[in-house]
Amino acid sequence: MGAFKFMSILYLSATLLLIIFGSFFCCADKNMNCGQQCPKSDSFTAENDFKANLKNLLDSLVKNGPLFKGFYSTSIGESSDQIFGLVQCRGDISTINCGSCIKNSSAFALSKCPESKDVIIWFTWCFLRYSTDNFVGILGQTSVAIVNDTNYDDPSLVSNGLSLMRGLVSSAPNQNLMFQTNVLDGGLRGKRYGMAQCTRDISRSDCAQCLNSQLDAFRTTIGSKKDWEIYGFNCFMWYHDHQFYFNVSTSEGGRWGGRIIGISLALLMMLLIIL
Ligand SMILES: *[C@@H]1O[C@H](CO)[C@@H](O)[C@H](O)[C@H]1NC(C)=O
Ligand SMILES: *[C@@H]1O[C@H](CO)[C@@H](O)[C@H](O)[C@H]1NC(C)=O
Ligand SMILES: *[C@@H]1O[C@H](CO)[C@@H](O)[C@H](O)[C@H]1NC(C)=O
Repeated sequence: MGAFKFMSILYLSATLLLIIFGSFFCCADKNMNCGQQCPKSDSFTAENDFKANLKNLLDSLVKNGPLFKGFYSTSIGESSDQIFGLVQCRGDISTINCGSCIKNSSAFALSKCPESKDVIIWFTWCFLRYSTDNFVGILGQTSVAIVNDTNYDDPSLVSNGLSLMRGLVSSAPNQNLMFQTNVLDGGLRGKRYGMAQCTRDISRSDCAQCLNSQLDAFRTTIGSKKDWEIYGFNCFMWYHDHQFYFNVSTSEGGRWGGRIIGISLALLMMLLIIL
């Protein structure tokens, strides 16, 4: 646990206080909950109609997410009862693990966020979002960066590491799944692994904007570090000194082919150092 006190969480958001993140890296090759946004709204009590629609929505996302290469979005209900939902698995995650992750994140949402109608759940392997407002296809400008403050990289690798990530920022939006990974070989200093991914409801140009803005906004914080992760509403970028994603050809890895892979920001609200 001691190591965690050197982690920083940096929020770029207009809705900062609604987002909760753990002060640790999620990534290993294990799936876990990384963070969530589930605001309680004063005027909202989940009516039976909402609950029934939400259950149908989550059932549909659990069923269909794995069938559509790890991405699905739909809505259930009419007019004021309508709920919009979206799920996306990380691009390297297998169909089975994707389904399991969506199922678990749905259960997590129901148990942790029963009083919210505007929910986002980040797991290592998948992302779940639903709301009574239609957010689908609209680029969201909020991100969270998790950085290991004490883990500075070898200065000779810093600019190559940033180049690796800039390369992903420009090429990931053009990939089939808007997901891409890449490796930097630092010779004796080891390898660095990067990933960029966008949710597939946004356009390729919004994906590029999303990733670009994340890298720009957090560059001074992440630039010199060996381990960091950025989680957004519509895009994600991770960087580590170990391979945190699956090889696509393995049984755990994705089966939907391709090399995979995952803000003009309103405000820099605060830098929170976890002590
Ligand atoms: C989902 O939760 C079950 C029960 O806790 C667990 O066994 C399983 O590994 C989880 N699946 C994923 C993908 O996290
Ligand atoms: C952060 O970096 C330090 C120093 O390199 C390392 O000992 C520690 O395990 C890292 N913490 C986490 C949570 O990865
Ligand atoms: C992926 O493949 C590379 C090269 O074959 C291998 O070195 C690495 O250990 C594999 N990683 C995982 C997570 O399976």
